Amino acid sequence: MAVLVTGGAGYIGSHTVAALLERGEEIVIVDNLQQGHKEAVLGGKLYSGDLRDADFLGTVFQENDIDAVIHFAASSLVGESMKDPGKYYHNNVYGTLCLLEKMNQYGVKKIVFSSTAATYGEPENVPVDELDRTLPTNAYGETKLAMEKMMKWFDVAHGIKFVSLRYFNAAGAHESGKIGEDHNPETHLVPVVLQVALGQRPHISVFGEDYPTDDGTCVRDYIHVSDLADAHVLAVEKLRKGGGSAIYNLGNGTGFSVKQVIDIAVEVTGREIPAVFEARRAGDPAVLVASSARARQELGWSPSRSKLEDIIGSAWAWHQANPSGYNK
Ligand code: UFG
Repeated sequence: MAVLVTGGAGYIGSHTVAALLERGEEIVIVDNLQQGHKEAVLGGKLYSGDLRDADFLGTVFQENDIDAVIHFAASSLVGESMKDPGKYYHNNVYGTLCLLEKMNQYGVKKIVFSSTAATYGEPENVPVDELDRTLPTNAYGETKLAMEKMMKWFDVAHGIKFVSLRYFNAAGAHESGKIGEDHNPETHLVPVVLQVALGQRPHISVFGEDYPTDDGTCVRDYIHVSDLADAHVLAVEKLRKGGGSAIYNLGNGTGFSVKQVIDIAVEVTGREIPAVFEARRAGDPAVLVASSARARQELGWSPSRSKLEDIIGSAWAWHQANPSGYNK
C-alpha cells in the first residue's frame, strides 16, 4: 500500500516525504514542479504533472496501490491570492475537486489535508480553537476553507475520511540539512529575514507597525516544519485505524511578533538585519496563535522542536549551506 503525496516536492510536502521514508512507507509523489523542486524529494516515486490533468492523475492511481493521500499541492501565498484570486480557485479548489473525484473513482477513502490558520481570518479568540468562527480575510484562506468543505461533502456522500491540519506559520529546515525552504519569489518572514542576514537583501520590510499588539507588529505562532510533517504521519495512522474525519490546529501555542522574530534572528545569525517599516500587507490578521490541544489529545502529536531559536537556527543552517536554494 502506498501513500500518495501531492505537492511532495514543496516545502512542507518534502519534509513529510522525508518523515514517511523514515517510517519505511511506500510513497508516490505528484508535483507539477511549478513551486516544488525535484531535489527536495528524498525518495519515493515522483510523477511530474498536474492534478487538473485527469489522464495524468488516472495513470498515477492506476499504476500504484494507493490507500491514502496527503494533499499539499496548492498555491499558498496570502499576498498573491489578493491580487490573483482566480489562480487560487483554479489551482486549489478545482485541483482538489479533480483529486477527490479520482480518489472516489479508485475507491481511495483516506485523505490528510494541508490546511491553514488563514481559514480563521481575524480570530475570535487567542489561542484559536478549531470550533471558532472561520471568516478568512484573504482569498488563499477562503480557498482552503472551500477545500475543507468539499472534503466534508465527499465524506458524507462517498465515505472519504479526511483529516484537515490547519497549520500556523511553518518555518525551519530538516535536521539532515538536505532539505529546507526555497520559494521563488520568497515572501515568508523567516527566510526573507535570513536572506537579509546573508546580505542578499538590503533590509527586511516590516509590514505594519500599527497593529493592536504589544509592539505594533503582527504576531504569529511559528512551528517547525518537521513537527508538521510528524502530524501528517500520525493523521494517516489515525485514518488507517478507522478514525473519522477531523480538523486539527497545529502550532506551538506561543506568539512572536515580527520584531521579535527579527531580534531572535539577529541573535542566532550574529549578523545585522536592518528593518524598514512599511504599510500593512492586505489580508494580514493581527494575531494568529494556535490551540493544538485536540491534535495533542486525538493524534498523540507533540511538537518536539518548539524553541524559536532552534527553528530559526535550523533554517539558518540550510540557508547558509544553500544560499541560492536547491541546485543553483
Ligand atoms: N512579514 C513582514 N515582512 C515580510 C514578510 C512577512 O513584515 O517581508 C510579516 C507579515 O506581514 C506577517 C508575518 O510577517 O505579519 C508572517 O508573514 P508570512 O508571509 O511569513 O506568513 P503569513 O502569516 O502571511 O502566512 C503563513 C503562510 C500561509 C498560512 C499562514 C497562517 O504563508 O500559508 O501563515 O498563519 F496560511
